[in-house]
This record gives sequence, C-alpha cells and structure tokens, in this order.
Amino acid sequence: MSQVGVQWCRVWVTMLLLLPSAPVEGGELCLMRSVLISLQRVQADYFTKQESLDLPPGARPALYCSNKCTLLDWCQLWCAYPSNTPTHCLISNIIVMPTYQETNLADALTCHTTRPKDLATHANITGGKQDMLYPLRVKENLLDGFYNYDINQCFFTDPSKSNRWFTLDFGQPKCFQHVILHAQFIYQAKDRFNNVQVRVSNVTAVTPPDDFAAYDLFGEFPGAASPGQVVEMKSPKPVCARFITGHMLYNNAFQVCHVEVF
Ligand SMILES: *[C@@H]1O[C@H](CO)[C@@H](O)[C@H](O)[C@H]1NC(C)=O
Ligand SMILES: *[C@@H]1O[C@H](CO)[C@@H](O)[C@H](O)[C@H]1NC(C)=O
Repeated sequence: MSQVGVQWCRVWVTMLLLLPSAPVEGGELCLMRSVLISLQRVQADYFTKQESLDLPPGARPALYCSNKCTLLDWCQLWCAYPSNTPTHCLISNIIVMPTYQETNLADALTCHTTRPKDLATHANITGGKQDMLYPLRVKENLLDGFYNYDINQCFFTDPSKSNRWFTLDFGQPKCFQHVILHAQFIYQAKDRFNNVQVRVSNVTAVTPPDDFAAYDLFGEFPGAASPGQVVEMKSPKPVCARFITGHMLYNNAFQVCHVEVF
C-alpha cells in the first residue's frame, strides 16, 4: 500500500473507532491483500515483532484485525485464526508479498499483507558471487516474497568489486515506479549497504559492474544505511524496463535483504 494509502486508512480507521455507526465499506478498502501462508511460519519467528490479540465477542474478524494492523505502524501482516472460527488476530511485521507461494500447506491460512503486488517476487536473478562463508545467503532469497528479518534471508556478496551487484530479469519490459531495498538488520549495515545505485535497461549481456554505467539511473542511496533501513526510491513517472540492477559502489561486501519493485 502506498504511504498515502496507509495514511488514509489510519484516518478512516480512527474515524470508525470514534463513530461506531460509520459505514464499514471504507474500512474494507483497508483490508489489504490476501496471501496463503503457514501459521507456524508466521508465529515461530525469532526475528519478527508480533502480537496475538483476542477477538472480542461479536467482532467481525476481518474488520477488527485489519483495523488493529492499520493503526500499528510496524504491522505488515495480519491473520485471523484458527481459520474456521477465528478467536484471535496475529499481527506481525513479517514481510510477505501477495504472490508468495507457500510450500507448507498443512497449516496454511489466508492472511492479509500490506505489501503491494510486485515484480521482484518470482523474477529471475543473476548476481555477483556470494560470500561462501554464508551459504544460505543466496541471491534467490530476494525472489521468494518472504522476509522475516533473519540475516539468512539476505543476499550477501563476496567483497570484491566485480561481485557487489544483482540483476532482476522480468522476461520482458515491465513498468514500475517504486524500488524498495532493505538493508540488513544488524549493526554492519553501514558497511554492507552504502552508496547503492539502482539502474534499469532493456539490454542484457553487460559486464558487471562497470557496464552498469550504460544503464539508466533509477535511483541512488548515497549511504550509509542504518540497521534495518528501508530505502525507498520513487520515480516521478513510471519507468519500463526488462532488467533492474542494484549495485554497491562502496568498497565492501554488499548485503541486501529484501527487494520490491512495483
Ligand atoms: C526465468 O527463467 C526461466 C528459465 O529460463 C524461464 O522459463 C522464465 O520464463 C523466466 N521468468 C521470467 C520472469 O523471466
Ligand atoms: C524498454 O522497452 C520499452 C518498450 O519495449 C520502452 O517503453 C522502455 O522505455 C524501454 N526502457 C529502457 C530503459 O530503455
């Protein structure tokens, strides 16, 4: 949801709470996007912030839970559970994209995410060599539509200059206006997410990273990132391109933990 959308939702929800007889339709617009995800995956999480709330008797689960989520600035996902007859809302800051594909269907339920439909989830990716000391931090982590603030959900490159980059391939030109990048949640963010450029092109087969200079600049972050910093780049007009690259000019290993393009 856009920042304006979120703010509008907050105003609306605050009004609903003040005026119990207000119509609920506007509130429905704040219900966000549904996504199937394992309850255990959301609950059993050491890295996220979460709260479980009792549903008051007679409350409509969707309206009650979405309102609670909208009013908490850290909330990114809510789930009313158990799914048949909900008695609770789970509110979490976990990031789940609407096109996330759950593999653990045993306890999957429909939750609702604030995140928009985006192009990074399920794109193809190439990138510099990863740091082999951390085999879990593969570039494909940026495509799975899921980020729970665990450092092993990030992509961590080898520190040499030729490796501090990733390129998303959408298969054909796609239009977007926003690129969001998450820096790592722990203290070394300032060294691992610093002086980052995002560039776009329709042309493949360049030699990274020097040839990225031939791509159009979409946005840049001079750095240095603070731990967990969310860098939002917005173009005044939609930009269409097949490839989008992120690369770090600062002389260190690059670590990026979540990407959204929409
Ligand atoms: C990703 O690559 C696979 C294999 O080359 C291809 O079939 C698929 O269409 C590609 N997806 C996108 C979004 O380009
Ligand atoms: C890529 O191609 C599309 C149309 O095919 C065009 O609209 C767009 O401007 C091109 N993007 C770049 C970055 O050249």
